[in-house]
Amino acid sequence: MLAGGLSHERDVSLRSGRRVAEALRGSGVEVEERDVDAGLLASLREDRPDCVLPLLHGESGEDGAVREVLELVDVPYVGSRPTACRSAFDKPVAKAVVGRAGLRTPAGVALPHQTFRELGAAPVMAAILDSLGLPLIVKPTRGGSALGCTAVRDAAGLAGAMVSAFAYGDTALVERLVAGREVAVPVVDTGDGPRALPVVEIDPDGGVYDYAARYTAGSTRFEVPATLSDDLAAECARVAVVAHETLGLRDVSRSDLIVDDGGTVWFLEVNVAPGMTETSTVPLSVAAAGLDLGGLVADLVRTAVDRPRPERS
Ligand SMILES: Nc1ncnc2c1ncn2[C@@H]1O[C@H](COP(=O)(O)OP(=O)(O)OP(=O)(O)O)[C@@H](O)[C@H]1O
Ligand SMILES: [Mg+2]
Repeated sequence: MLAGGLSHERDVSLRSGRRVAEALRGSGVEVEERDVDAGLLASLREDRPDCVLPLLHGESGEDGAVREVLELVDVPYVGSRPTACRSAFDKPVAKAVVGRAGLRTPAGVALPHQTFRELGAAPVMAAILDSLGLPLIVKPTRGGSALGCTAVRDAAGLAGAMVSAFAYGDTALVERLVAGREVAVPVVDTGDGPRALPVVEIDPDGGVYDYAARYTAGSTRFEVPATLSDDLAAECARVAVVAHETLGLRDVSRSDLIVDDGGTVWFLEVNVAPGMTETSTVPLSVAAAGLDLGGLVADLVRTAVDRPRPERS
């Protein structure tokens, strides 16, 4: 189990890792937990695990870097391959890819900090407001856990929101804010094709699903299955599976979507190492599907161990 790392989501990753390690042990799997540090490669070479579970959130865990290294040392691992991770982790890239596959994703623009310096922040922000209108949401293109993510409801709020996003990365994504019900849809594939697990509806107390609402027990209500009509729930499941397939993802993913009041399903983003903490949505969905978390992850591990490794050739 790889958990920790140096991203802003280190703590979340450690909690995810601990939970899944416990669940796996409950299913009779021998698990060792390792952080990502200078001792990792030596330990992978010497101990040669049968399989690695990278439960690293944020950069390096989700952008494919650590998985590149796992392929270098030829160790089987659960999850998507590096190239697919790179596209999925970069929100504007993922939006473009799923958009071409016919999914709806909020209109937006991705701009590096440099553009604001070169062209002047005021005219660039005026152009954004002219084109996209209000309300908006601003977030780092390669972020997680809603860190650096701010809703903008009046023009005066845009500058501060840009600064917050740039605190977490060089490029910010400014997107139209979609009002509606937020849902998360896990997709798993234990060898017979990707299938969506029950849709989880997210209803944060303060109305905003920010870092505190994510990781403070009791501060967000979850409905599993979601209080959507069967048709809408099926559409959310379809969107999540299409996102998983078009981005070339493997084993497990979680798509974050918004269902607006008109019944349109909007793709926000997809995660290749979804959170597995006590307050995360994937474990809730797994339970609602009548599955045991340890048993499901053990199946994913077996699938990873058994598959021919293209990375070998
Ligand atoms: N276009 C949008 N319209 C409305 N709300 C949005 C939009 N984009 C993001 N949000 C809100 O901001 C939150 C964080 O956004 P998003 O899921 O894209 O980023 P993230 O930080 O990568 O999150 P995660 O922890 O799920 O990886 C969402 O859960 C949602 O509540
Ligand atoms: Mg998200």
